[in-house]
Amino acid sequence: MRLSNRMITAIKVAVFLAALVPFGRLVWLALLDPGALGPNPAEYIVRSTGEWCLRFVAATLAITPLRRWTGSAWVMRLRRMIGLYAFFYGAVHFASYISFDHVFDVGAIIKDIIKRPFITVGFAALLLMLPLAITSTNAMVRRLGGRRWLTLHRAVYAVGILGVVHYWMMVKRDITQPAIYALIVAVLLGARWVWSRRDRLRATARAAQAA
Ligand code: HEM
Repeated sequence: MRLSNRMITAIKVAVFLAALVPFGRLVWLALLDPGALGPNPAEYIVRSTGEWCLRFVAATLAITPLRRWTGSAWVMRLRRMIGLYAFFYGAVHFASYISFDHVFDVGAIIKDIIKRPFITVGFAALLLMLPLAITSTNAMVRRLGGRRWLTLHRAVYAVGILGVVHYWMMVKRDITQPAIYALIVAVLLGARWVWSRRDRLRATARAAQAA
Protein backbone atom coordinates (compact mmCIF):
# COMPACT_ATOMS: atom_id res chain seq x y z
CA MET A 1 0.00 0.00 0.00
CA ARG A 2 1.40 3.45 -0.98
CA LEU A 3 0.60 6.49 1.17
CA SER A 4 1.19 10.21 0.63
CA ASN A 5 3.79 12.02 2.77
CA ARG A 6 1.00 13.94 4.52
CA MET A 7 -0.76 10.71 5.45
CA ILE A 8 2.48 9.21 6.78
CA THR A 9 3.13 12.33 8.89
CA ALA A 10 -0.40 12.09 10.31
CA ILE A 11 0.16 8.41 11.18
CA LYS A 12 3.50 9.28 12.81
CA VAL A 13 1.88 11.96 14.98
CA ALA A 14 -0.92 9.54 15.95
CA VAL A 15 1.58 6.79 16.87
CA PHE A 16 3.73 9.29 18.80
CA LEU A 17 0.74 10.42 20.88
CA ALA A 18 -0.68 6.91 21.35
CA ALA A 19 2.72 5.66 22.59
CA LEU A 20 2.75 8.40 25.24
CA VAL A 21 -0.64 7.33 26.65
CA PRO A 22 0.62 4.54 28.99
CA PHE A 23 3.23 6.91 30.45
CA GLY A 24 0.73 9.76 30.77
CA ARG A 25 -1.76 7.43 32.45
CA LEU A 26 0.85 6.28 35.00
CA VAL A 27 1.91 9.85 35.84
CA TRP A 28 -1.73 10.97 36.05
CA LEU A 29 -2.76 8.14 38.37
CA ALA A 30 0.41 8.29 40.49
CA LEU A 31 -0.17 11.98 41.17
CA LEU A 32 -3.95 12.14 41.40
CA ASP A 33 -5.25 8.67 42.25
CA PRO A 34 -2.46 6.32 43.43
CA GLY A 35 -5.10 3.93 44.83
CA ALA A 36 -6.01 3.07 41.23
CA LEU A 37 -2.54 1.55 40.86
CA GLY A 38 -3.39 -1.22 43.34
CA PRO A 39 -2.08 -1.96 46.84
CA ASN A 40 1.56 -1.43 45.74
CA PRO A 41 1.74 1.53 43.28
CA ALA A 42 5.57 1.41 43.08
CA GLU A 43 5.52 -2.25 42.01
CA TYR A 44 2.72 -1.50 39.55
CA ILE A 45 4.79 1.27 37.92
CA VAL A 46 7.98 -0.87 37.69
CA ARG A 47 6.04 -3.78 36.17
CA SER A 48 3.92 -1.70 33.84
CA THR A 49 6.90 0.24 32.38
CA GLY A 50 8.83 -3.06 32.00
CA GLU A 51 5.97 -4.61 30.08
CA TRP A 52 5.59 -1.53 27.84
CA CYS A 53 9.30 -1.60 27.13
CA LEU A 54 9.01 -5.21 25.95
CA ARG A 55 5.89 -4.42 23.89
CA PHE A 56 7.74 -1.64 22.06
CA VAL A 57 10.78 -3.87 21.51
CA ALA A 58 8.44 -6.47 19.96
CA ALA A 59 6.72 -3.75 17.88
CA THR A 60 10.13 -2.57 16.60
CA LEU A 61 10.99 -6.14 15.61
CA ALA A 62 7.61 -6.45 13.87
CA ILE A 63 8.18 -3.54 11.45
CA THR A 64 10.38 -5.32 8.89
CA PRO A 65 8.20 -8.47 8.76
CA LEU A 66 5.14 -6.21 8.43
CA ARG A 67 6.74 -4.49 5.45
CA ARG A 68 7.57 -7.82 3.81
CA TRP A 69 4.21 -9.42 4.53
CA THR A 70 2.08 -6.43 3.49
CA GLY A 71 4.36 -4.79 0.90
CA SER A 72 3.84 -1.43 2.71
CA ALA A 73 7.27 0.25 2.70
CA TRP A 74 5.98 3.29 4.65
CA VAL A 75 5.83 1.30 7.91
CA MET A 76 9.64 1.51 7.98
CA ARG A 77 9.28 5.22 8.68
CA LEU A 78 7.75 4.38 12.08
CA ARG A 79 10.57 2.08 13.16
CA ARG A 80 12.95 4.64 14.69
CA MET A 81 10.20 6.28 16.76
CA ILE A 82 8.88 2.95 18.07
CA GLY A 83 12.43 1.83 18.90
CA LEU A 84 13.08 5.07 20.78
CA TYR A 85 9.86 4.55 22.72
CA ALA A 86 11.14 1.09 23.73
CA PHE A 87 14.25 2.78 25.10
CA PHE A 88 12.17 5.50 26.77
CA TYR A 89 9.99 2.94 28.62
CA GLY A 90 13.14 0.92 29.48
CA ALA A 91 14.74 4.06 30.95
CA VAL A 92 11.59 4.90 32.95
CA HIS A 93 11.44 1.25 34.10
CA PHE A 94 15.04 1.47 35.33
CA ALA A 95 14.45 4.90 36.90
CA SER A 96 11.40 3.54 38.80
CA TYR A 97 13.43 0.53 39.95
CA ILE A 98 16.35 2.61 41.28
CA SER A 99 14.07 5.12 42.95
CA PHE A 100 11.28 2.93 44.38
CA ASP A 101 13.19 -0.33 45.04
CA HIS A 102 16.54 1.15 46.12
CA VAL A 103 16.00 4.85 46.85
CA PHE A 104 19.08 5.67 44.69
CA ASP A 105 21.45 3.57 46.84
CA VAL A 106 24.15 2.95 44.21
CA GLY A 107 25.87 0.20 46.23
CA ALA A 108 22.63 -1.73 46.69
CA ILE A 109 21.76 -1.33 42.99
CA ILE A 110 25.15 -2.67 41.84
CA LYS A 111 24.87 -5.57 44.33
CA ASP A 112 21.36 -6.37 43.08
CA ILE A 113 22.48 -6.29 39.41
CA ILE A 114 25.31 -8.72 40.22
CA LYS A 115 23.43 -11.00 42.63
CA ARG A 116 19.99 -11.42 41.02
CA PRO A 117 20.26 -13.06 37.57
CA PHE A 118 16.94 -11.66 36.27
CA ILE A 119 18.12 -8.13 37.11
CA THR A 120 21.48 -8.85 35.42
CA VAL A 121 19.65 -9.89 32.25
CA GLY A 122 17.36 -6.83 32.31
CA PHE A 123 20.35 -4.57 32.85
CA ALA A 124 22.18 -6.19 29.90
CA ALA A 125 19.12 -5.57 27.70
CA LEU A 126 18.93 -1.90 28.68
CA LEU A 127 22.68 -1.45 28.24
CA LEU A 128 22.41 -2.88 24.71
CA MET A 129 19.61 -0.46 23.90
CA LEU A 130 21.73 2.56 24.80
CA PRO A 131 24.05 2.59 21.72
CA LEU A 132 21.03 1.89 19.51
CA ALA A 133 19.23 4.96 20.87
CA ILE A 134 22.38 7.12 20.59
CA THR A 135 23.01 6.08 16.97
CA SER A 136 19.39 6.38 15.87
CA THR A 137 19.79 9.80 14.20
CA ASN A 138 20.31 10.30 10.44
CA ALA A 139 23.66 11.97 11.20
CA MET A 140 24.82 8.85 13.05
CA VAL A 141 23.67 6.59 10.21
CA ARG A 142 25.84 8.68 7.85
CA ARG A 143 28.78 8.75 10.26
CA LEU A 144 28.79 5.00 10.83
CA GLY A 145 27.94 4.07 7.25
CA GLY A 146 24.86 2.02 6.35
CA ARG A 147 26.46 -1.42 6.68
CA ARG A 148 28.08 -0.80 10.10
CA TRP A 149 24.92 0.89 11.35
CA LEU A 150 22.82 -2.10 10.30
CA THR A 151 25.22 -4.55 11.96
CA LEU A 152 25.12 -2.55 15.21
CA HIS A 153 21.33 -2.30 15.13
CA ARG A 154 21.02 -6.08 14.86
CA ALA A 155 21.62 -5.90 18.64
CA VAL A 156 17.87 -5.29 18.88
CA TYR A 157 17.42 -9.05 18.27
CA ALA A 158 19.41 -9.73 21.44
CA VAL A 159 17.39 -7.08 23.29
CA GLY A 160 14.17 -8.94 22.36
CA ILE A 161 15.57 -12.27 23.59
CA LEU A 162 17.04 -10.79 26.81
CA GLY A 163 13.76 -8.95 27.50
CA VAL A 164 11.80 -12.21 27.26
CA VAL A 165 14.35 -14.11 29.38
CA HIS A 166 14.26 -11.32 32.00
CA TYR A 167 10.45 -11.55 32.17
CA TRP A 168 10.48 -15.36 32.22
CA MET A 169 13.03 -15.48 35.07
CA MET A 170 11.01 -12.96 37.07
CA VAL A 171 7.77 -14.94 36.93
CA LYS A 172 7.39 -17.47 39.69
CA ARG A 173 4.36 -19.57 38.78
CA ASP A 174 2.21 -18.72 35.75
CA ILE A 175 4.49 -18.45 32.72
CA THR A 176 1.67 -17.70 30.24
CA GLN A 177 2.55 -14.03 29.71
CA PRO A 178 6.32 -14.43 29.13
CA ALA A 179 5.57 -17.49 26.97
CA ILE A 180 3.34 -15.34 24.72
CA TYR A 181 6.15 -12.76 24.33
CA ALA A 182 8.63 -15.58 23.70
CA LEU A 183 6.42 -16.90 20.90
CA ILE A 184 6.02 -13.44 19.33
CA VAL A 185 9.77 -12.73 19.44
CA ALA A 186 10.53 -16.25 18.11
CA VAL A 187 8.18 -15.75 15.12
CA LEU A 188 9.63 -12.29 14.34
CA LEU A 189 13.24 -13.48 14.55
CA GLY A 190 12.46 -16.83 12.90
CA ALA A 191 10.96 -15.05 9.88
CA ARG A 192 14.22 -13.09 9.43
CA TRP A 193 16.25 -16.29 9.63
CA VAL A 194 14.09 -17.95 6.95
CA TRP A 195 14.39 -14.91 4.65
CA SER A 196 18.15 -14.59 5.01
CA ARG A 197 18.58 -18.34 4.34
CA ARG A 198 16.34 -18.10 1.27
CA ASP A 199 18.21 -15.00 -0.01
CA ARG A 200 21.54 -16.77 0.44
CA LEU A 201 20.32 -19.89 -1.41
CA ARG A 202 19.01 -17.72 -4.26
CA ALA A 203 22.32 -15.84 -4.48
CA THR A 204 24.25 -19.14 -4.58
CA ALA A 205 21.93 -20.46 -7.31
CA ARG A 206 22.39 -17.25 -9.35
CA ALA A 207 26.17 -17.41 -8.96
CA ALA A 208 26.16 -21.07 -10.05
CA GLN A 209 24.00 -20.21 -13.09
CA ALA A 210 26.29 -17.34 -14.08
CA ALA A 211 29.31 -19.65 -13.82
C1 HEM B 1 18.42 -2.01 34.23
C2 HEM B 1 17.53 -2.70 33.65
C3 HEM B 1 16.36 -3.37 34.30
C4 HEM B 1 16.06 -3.58 35.61
C5 HEM B 1 16.88 -3.21 36.83
C6 HEM B 1 14.78 -4.24 35.68
C7 HEM B 1 14.11 -4.59 36.82
C8 HEM B 1 12.85 -5.13 36.91
C9 HEM B 1 12.11 -5.36 38.12
C10 HEM B 1 12.61 -5.07 39.54
C11 HEM B 1 10.91 -5.88 37.76
C12 HEM B 1 9.75 -6.22 38.71
C13 HEM B 1 9.99 -7.47 39.44
C14 HEM B 1 8.89 -7.79 40.44
O1 HEM B 1 7.96 -7.00 40.60
O2 HEM B 1 9.01 -8.84 41.06
C15 HEM B 1 10.90 -6.00 36.33
C16 HEM B 1 9.86 -6.48 35.59
C17 HEM B 1 9.84 -6.53 34.22
N1 HEM B 1 10.79 -6.03 33.35
FE1 HEM B 1 12.56 -5.23 33.87
N2 HEM B 1 14.33 -4.42 34.40
C18 HEM B 1 15.27 -3.91 33.53
C19 HEM B 1 15.21 -3.85 32.16
C20 HEM B 1 14.17 -4.33 31.41
C21 HEM B 1 14.09 -4.27 29.99
C22 HEM B 1 15.15 -3.65 29.07
C23 HEM B 1 12.90 -4.85 29.63
C24 HEM B 1 12.32 -5.07 28.28
C25 HEM B 1 13.02 -5.31 27.19
C26 HEM B 1 12.24 -5.25 30.85
C27 HEM B 1 11.02 -5.88 30.91
C28 HEM B 1 10.37 -6.25 32.07
C29 HEM B 1 9.10 -6.93 32.10
C30 HEM B 1 8.29 -7.37 30.88
C31 HEM B 1 8.76 -7.09 33.44
C32 HEM B 1 7.52 -7.77 34.00
C33 HEM B 1 6.32 -6.89 33.91
C34 HEM B 1 5.08 -7.56 34.47
O3 HEM B 1 5.13 -8.14 35.54
O4 HEM B 1 4.04 -7.45 33.80
N3 HEM B 1 13.03 -4.91 31.91
N4 HEM B 1 12.09 -5.53 35.84
